[in-house]
Amino acid sequence: MSPRSASDNAMPAPLVDVRRGLVSRRIFSDPALYERELEQVFGRCWLFLGPEAALPAPGDFVTSFMGEDPVIVCRDPAGRVRAFLNSCRHRGNAVCQLERGHALAFTCGYHGWTYNTEGQLTGVPFHAEAYYDDLDRAELGLLEVPRLEVFGGLIFGCWDPAAPPLAAYLGGMGWYLDRLVVAQELGGLDVAATTRYRTRGNWKFLAENAAGDHYHTPTAHGAANRLGIRGATSGFEYAQADWGPFEVALEHGHGLGGLVTGRETYERDLARARTMGPEVVEYVTTRYARLQERLADTPSKPYVISHGNVFPNFSFVGGQTALRGWVFYLIHPKGPTDSEVWQWLMLPRAAPPAVRAAALTQFRREGHFAAGMFEQDDAEIFERTTESTRSPRARELPFHYGMGLRQEGRWPGQEGWDIAGLPGLVGPRFSEHNQRGFYAYWAALVQAGEP
Ligand code: FES
Ligand code: FE
Repeated sequence: MSPRSASDNAMPAPLVDVRRGLVSRRIFSDPALYERELEQVFGRCWLFLGPEAALPAPGDFVTSFMGEDPVIVCRDPAGRVRAFLNSCRHRGNAVCQLERGHALAFTCGYHGWTYNTEGQLTGVPFHAEAYYDDLDRAELGLLEVPRLEVFGGLIFGCWDPAAPPLAAYLGGMGWYLDRLVVAQELGGLDVAATTRYRTRGNWKFLAENAAGDHYHTPTAHGAANRLGIRGATSGFEYAQADWGPFEVALEHGHGLGGLVTGRETYERDLARARTMGPEVVEYVTTRYARLQERLADTPSKPYVISHGNVFPNFSFVGGQTALRGWVFYLIHPKGPTDSEVWQWLMLPRAAPPAVRAAALTQFRREGHFAAGMFEQDDAEIFERTTESTRSPRARELPFHYGMGLRQEGRWPGQEGWDIAGLPGLVGPRFSEHNQRGFYAYWAALVQAGEP
């Protein structure tokens, strides 16, 4: 018997077969595909850089990553948010080592080149003696991220000068973010807490799960439910009760879910708010009134969503009732099989103390912060699914994403739901149409220009 060659083990093209709902396991651990992904996905898409609330004044900065490119995001003296590659033009050292702070300038710790918050090289030690005053400093500023826009207090950047504007990239996702997430009517979102963790999982498992994998909840998170610790604060009962529109696939691989429509949800929130005090009643009532104004021409009146992912790696989880905040996720790829997850607990500035306290307790204890039950349930599974893409036998078997295939947009009892005016492909809670959209767009980017 002749030995099996490497090509015997290769997955048949295409890597993503949306028509059959199949995705090659190679895309979760193949080093060559990962390198291509860094260029074609993270080098071309609009990427979340963090909440603008972290940069209230000129000179404020945070550091982050765009794919594996380290960046400084800062507010310049004119008040504009800008982003620069965090790499000295002399010998590449990171010019800013901190996660956040306030600075007039960034001085490289190697030889002392100094850059201002507009990215200009303003200081070169021993300029006369070392360079004979013959160094073109104007040519040696920090590389600026060419496209940067702020959407509802969320900062996004893009390396591709030819990319469409952010609003066009977000498409229907922008419609939902604007109405149901960023909470402008409640003063916009503010950062209540942050946390970070490393995991041995490919970034796509986290992102596609947030885009629309309600199917895993009863099993992977079954312990939390059986222990009864989700309780009335989670809104899970709403999802159990509502079998209508739920997961929404949007253009450019974006997806969201937990969509609940109707006045009944508001009335349930209001009943709970009454147990939390008059401030909370006022908060819920104000949100609902503003929401109705913004949805005046949308018959379906969406009230909450509970999860979503802005392609490629900005996820949000929470929502579910007007009484919860959001956990924002930025899932940084750290090699084909490793990720670093950054999380922010975001709450509307107008949230009363009772709402803030309940949200913090929930996300820390049972929820989606690193030490929460849900996060540990998920992270452990994503590590195992990633590992399954490395085993020589297992990696020959594609993953199955066929749930609801050829049934997109339909669900039992659909007739009773009015989804008029809702952007995207709206489907039931048990369907993988959001993931199919995620991987279809991923494949279009990664395989662009291939023969
Ligand atoms: Fe930054 Fe030399 S590497 S000054
Ligand atoms: Fe989960």
